[in-house]
Amino acid sequence: MAISLNINNAGLRAHELEQTKFLVDASYQHLMSREGAGNDFLGWLNLPFEYDKEEFARIKAAAKKIQAQSEVLIAIGIGGSYLGARAGLEFSKGPFYNQLASKGEGVEVYFAGNNISSAYVSYLMQIIGDRDFSVNVISKSGTTTEPAVAFRIFKAKLEEKYGKEGAKDRIYATTDAKKGALRGLAVAEGYETFVVPDATGGRFSCLTAVGLLPMAAGGMDIDAVMKGCEDACVKYNNPDLYTNDAMKYAATRFIMLMKGKSVEILSNYEPALTQFGEWYKQLMAESEGKDGKGLFPVSANFSTDLHSIGQFIQDGSRTMFETVLWVQKSACDIAVPDDPANVDGLNFASGKTMQYMNEKAMNGTMLAHVDGGVPNIIITLDELNDHNFGELVYFFWKSLGISAYMLGVNPFNQPGVEDYKKNMFALLGKPGYEDMKADLEARLAAVL
Ligand code: PA5
Repeated sequence: MAISLNINNAGLRAHELEQTKFLVDASYQHLMSREGAGNDFLGWLNLPFEYDKEEFARIKAAAKKIQAQSEVLIAIGIGGSYLGARAGLEFSKGPFYNQLASKGEGVEVYFAGNNISSAYVSYLMQIIGDRDFSVNVISKSGTTTEPAVAFRIFKAKLEEKYGKEGAKDRIYATTDAKKGALRGLAVAEGYETFVVPDATGGRFSCLTAVGLLPMAAGGMDIDAVMKGCEDACVKYNNPDLYTNDAMKYAATRFIMLMKGKSVEILSNYEPALTQFGEWYKQLMAESEGKDGKGLFPVSANFSTDLHSIGQFIQDGSRTMFETVLWVQKSACDIAVPDDPANVDGLNFASGKTMQYMNEKAMNGTMLAHVDGGVPNIIITLDELNDHNFGELVYFFWKSLGISAYMLGVNPFNQPGVEDYKKNMFALLGKPGYEDMKADLEARLAAVL
């Protein structure tokens, strides 16, 4: 089994799952019958059986073209429009995937448009240097400010380097099929376009063209990714709480919240999972954190973070539980060399693999955290590969869909994201926000 769940260390009493079963069952049915809130955004539910095969073939062809034309791909997007691809590339190819790109068939893939920092853009420009590059601009709405700003900048750089026609041949736009400024621009300029399906919200879109094109350009096998998603779709299409790990995980998280454990830490022991933690945070926070409810998702990278937030987890305020992502088989086995002098006193580890030591660190940490009042859930992956990325993504989608309905929230909207945008637009003088501007400026003058 590629992915398995262990809740033995979550500290549940024998009856707790059973007494939550009616609610998990109802939420599962609510999701599967497509009767719940936000049910017009369930495009991901049967995605591996319903995706557009013609577009999928175009994605693979576009990835090959990018690899033939460029050394670097700049993927421009924010939130759900970039986190999945970034997580997938690191999951599959490791934290140094860009530095190692020249050893495989993939190009270097960098992400822009996920902040408003000119320093960040300038560093990226230095990384591109004189090299050939292409751009994939990704925005479902086609109106998001951060990627729109970055796209203007990188489009201008492409046009300066290759001319307008040459630039056009290196720009790929992934957006809504019909509406939005980006769709209009892509049509007007004649870019190759890919579609974010209507029924697929940003954080459920990484296995559509949104994530698949950057992942394929970076050298991932997107057939294997979709096969993993398909396997999970079949596996978790099961209404039995006791044999469906997606339901069991949802139920356990809900019980944790009821017990006052309002922070979930997704921890890992593989640096390749750092960006997966970022993807998970967005999925959980934007889907569940509303109407005054939800678990606050945090991610931690061990053993690195055991030397920073580890102190707090062990001994700080007792509001958290931990979900450990554990990878059984490392990409390679490196053993600790023996040193007859043993000046560093490390010979107790001579000959042992780092994976073996990592496992002992995970085991020891889990027991310490449980003893310290931090219940642990363990999700074990047999290894990190393209298939398992697709499978794990779907596992979290499905479980989150169930747990959000258990909380009584609509998992598929994000009304809270709009508030900062309105203030920013007003302060920037965007037409339509004039009424708010004076009031905001007066408030800022009083406090800054
Ligand atoms: O999950 C979501 O819906 C959001 O995080 C969006 O992905 C994000 O705001 C970017 O939106 P867009 O793709 O419309 O630019």
